Order: sequence, then structure tokens, then C-alpha cells
Amino acid sequence: MSFIVAIDGPAAAGKGTVSKAVAEHFGFAHLDTGLLYRVVGRAALASIGPSLDPERVIALSTDVNPEDLHRTDLRTAAVAQAASKVAAIPEVRANLVAFQREFANRSGGAVLDGRDIGTVICPDADVKLFVTASTERRAERRYKELAERGEETSYEGVLADVIARDKRDSERESAPLVASEDAHLLDTSEMTIAEAVAEAIAIIDAKR
Ligand code: CDP
Repeated sequence: MSFIVAIDGPAAAGKGTVSKAVAEHFGFAHLDTGLLYRVVGRAALASIGPSLDPERVIALSTDVNPEDLHRTDLRTAAVAQAASKVAAIPEVRANLVAFQREFANRSGGAVLDGRDIGTVICPDADVKLFVTASTERRAERRYKELAERGEETSYEGVLADVIARDKRDSERESAPLVASEDAHLLDTSEMTIAEAVAEAIAIIDAKR
């Protein structure tokens, strides 16, 4: 039987960490849907360049190989920005829908995290969470993560990136970042990872 957990929220809110822990706890499969857009964004930067010509980006998005999600060069700030740009192209989003829905409907349960899972990809999800945190908290966390990975960056630069990406993701016409009306809001600004995970698990347990 399928059981779908949809986890959405803005950049660096902790969706990934919460999703991974929740999936592990319940034995569900996990798909970080941001990686799909990062794969297209990275390929577009490499083969098209910064112009990100939409026709060519759309062509690239027909050809995403699940193996690509394991690439180790998808988490950079440059790829994040490119992902958010290609994600605003409706045809790119459309080309990625089938893969996500198929993943979600597997038997045994699935957790998908992204921006539009509860609103567009899986509007009938069994549980919807909208994970958020203050912009400064999110920028601090992402800065730490990038610095630990050795990327040369500054807090101010990361903050500007997060703000630009949130703006683009929220204002686009196609599947904008917005909390589904029936989503549980989880503000992790003042929470530890363990607290956020425990709360998410409690919300899901109540629906099972
Ligand atoms: O990890 P972080 O929250 O920084 O970003 P991500 O989830 O990897 O997503 C990268 C970009 O992909 C976002 O800024 C969105 O523009 C886009 N995205 C989307 O449009 N829809 C999704 N379901 C997931 C990501």
C-alpha cells in the first residue's frame, strides 16, 4: 500500500534532514525532488552556460537519468541558483512530474520533499508538512554546510542567494512555493534537528 508524506518549504529550511530522518524512521523511500532541478541546472550550466536558453534547458529536462541524482557536484551555490532558474520553466517542471508521481505511489511508503509536492505533485498526500525557519537561520545553516564542504563563500553571499531563490520560487507562475492549505506548519527556527524530527514523526504517527 502507498503512504505519501509531502514535505515542502523554502531554501535551506531543513526539509532534507527532516525528510531523511522521517523516511528512515518509518522505513519509507525518500526523494529529494530539489535534486531533479539541480541535475537539470548543473547540466544546463555545463552545456549551455549562464544564458540558460529555455529551449535547450527543456530538451535537457527530458533526459534526466535517476543515476544523476547521486552526482556529488549538485550541492553548490551556483547549481542551486541555476536549479531555481530552470525550475521556473513550466515545460521543465512538466517533464519531471511523472518520475515524481511514480516514486510517490510505490508500495511501502514514500517521503518527497520540495516546493510543490503538497500542492501539485501529490495533492492527495496522506500527510503534508511545510517546514520553514527565519531567513537568517536558514542562511546560517546553509553557510555552515557549504563552508564545511569547503566551498568558498560568505554568510552575506549565502543570505543574498537564499533571498533571491525564495523570491524567484515564490513569485513564479508555475507551481510557486506556497504552503498547501492542509499542510502542518513546522517552524524550525528555534528547534534542534532532533526536536524537528520528533515533531514531524508525531504528526505522521497521528495520521497512520
Ligand atoms: O536544498 P534547498 O532547499 O536549498 O534547495 P533544493 O530543495 O535542492 O531546490 C533547489 C531549487 O529547485 C529550488 O530553489 C527550487 O527552485 C527548485 N525546486 C522546485 O522548484 N520544486 C521542487 N519540488 C524542488 C525544488
